[in-house]
Amino acid sequence: MDDDPTDEPGELENPFAQDVPGGAVRPATFVLFGATGDLAAKKLLPALYNLAAEDRLPDRFRVVGVASSMQEHTFREHMQAAVQAHSRSGVVQEVLDRLMDRVDFLQGDVNDPALFERLRQNLVDGDQALGGPTRRLFYLAVAPRLFGPIAQALDGVGLARGSDPESVLMIEKPFGHDLRSAEDLNREVTAAFDERDILRLDHYLGKETVQNLLVFRFANGIFEPLWNRRYIDHVQITAAEDLGIGGRAGYYDQAGAIRDIIQNHAMQLVALTAMEPPATFSADEIREEKAKALRSIRCVRSARGQYTAGHVDGGPVPGYLDEPDVPAGSQTDTLAALKLEVNNWRWAGTPFYVRAGKRMPRRSTEITIAFRPVPHKPFADPRISGSIRPNLLTLSIQPNEGASLRIEAKAPGAETELRPVRMDFLYGETFTRDTPEAYERLLLDALRGDATLFTRADEVEQAWRIVDPVIAAWEAGEVPLEPYEAGTPGPPSADALIRDDGRKWRRL
Ligand code: BG6
Repeated sequence: MDDDPTDEPGELENPFAQDVPGGAVRPATFVLFGATGDLAAKKLLPALYNLAAEDRLPDRFRVVGVASSMQEHTFREHMQAAVQAHSRSGVVQEVLDRLMDRVDFLQGDVNDPALFERLRQNLVDGDQALGGPTRRLFYLAVAPRLFGPIAQALDGVGLARGSDPESVLMIEKPFGHDLRSAEDLNREVTAAFDERDILRLDHYLGKETVQNLLVFRFANGIFEPLWNRRYIDHVQITAAEDLGIGGRAGYYDQAGAIRDIIQNHAMQLVALTAMEPPATFSADEIREEKAKALRSIRCVRSARGQYTAGHVDGGPVPGYLDEPDVPAGSQTDTLAALKLEVNNWRWAGTPFYVRAGKRMPRRSTEITIAFRPVPHKPFADPRISGSIRPNLLTLSIQPNEGASLRIEAKAPGAETELRPVRMDFLYGETFTRDTPEAYERLLLDALRGDATLFTRADEVEQAWRIVDPVIAAWEAGEVPLEPYEAGTPGPPSADALIRDDGRKWRRL
């Protein structure tokens, strides 16, 4: 086997990876803590399979599953079943068998230092069997309270900062539950790993259409000159789900919509929309511009709601308080709406409205740029002038991925009559290629050593700085928790938050 990492498969396709040496996948051992959990079964193991199916894994590659709850042979069956159940593409047994040949399993308790000694030895032996060193990607699909202890235990056996071959720590939200706990967590993990070797996943950044926002803004000449307070009246971002909380009350009741979606996914969308153009598409410059945008944001008004019983997709659904394991009388928000000010030269005076909720009428994640009205209406007939509606640009993240520009057009006929029409671009129609799952993209970038689509410590902290005062005001009872019927767009206060400014939410 060749030692040269650039010989590995996985060509330079990532337009954001120009500054990554080689841009190709590098030999790696993917160590998955929490290998028997939900995230592993539903997302990570299927993503590894799909990368294998597309021949994107490096030749020198191994997976080591770590968990306390299974024996090796049961884990192998579990992994095969997980891939069969959750892979986005049909499973080819031969590809799966080849992947399974690269899988190893360590049973053990992460509180037991002996586990980490066994892991270290396993990595040394594994590299020897593979015929050369591999980068270590430690993915912590475990409870966040274990992030710090595992990072330190890895450091304790020389598998963290300064290790040779190099080690990378991969973690996912929740990154703390407020600014202070996020800072504590960042301190704990950076005690063992350098910031550049910590990849914090926000799976929204793995979505094609979220990445397309950067291409849309910075690879098209016509939008950027308009992308500011002079031409944009407001921005609105919606992350609506028709689903409820499923069986996740234990987690969700502590989080609510504000911590589950707004602090992370929605703030990333705000940052990508509001950021200045980076000089280059390098990880550091993009993340610096996002962090800078977040630093200039504060929330000036908020609303919160909790769903009651109603109808979704034609069927009855229970209210939040009747979902399994939700504590009686819970005050958790299942919908949050925020009005944000972006206090910088580009955006001063142009508000960003953001809302996220469960059990809304339909699933829809989108960013809408509402342009200012025309400065002068030359039509003599007041009915015509009165019917001119401002242009809207909607970037649809899911489920109908694409972009749509609403413009005014003259309806055919002898009279001048205006009609809003849309110029649409739909991913599904334009590109025939399958869209990869967000986790595939993020794992691939980790294998390439490209941190662009992972959030930096300061971005996470800035997002908490924005939402902390909102949560404090809610806890102080300053903003009432209002019920909304499942299958409706939310409570009156969420509506008032934008209507009081003479604007309205996009219809769901
Ligand atoms: C997760 C939240 O981060 O994102 C879930 O914890 C939510 O509550 C999910 O349902 C939404 O992700 P997507 O990709 O379906 O929009």
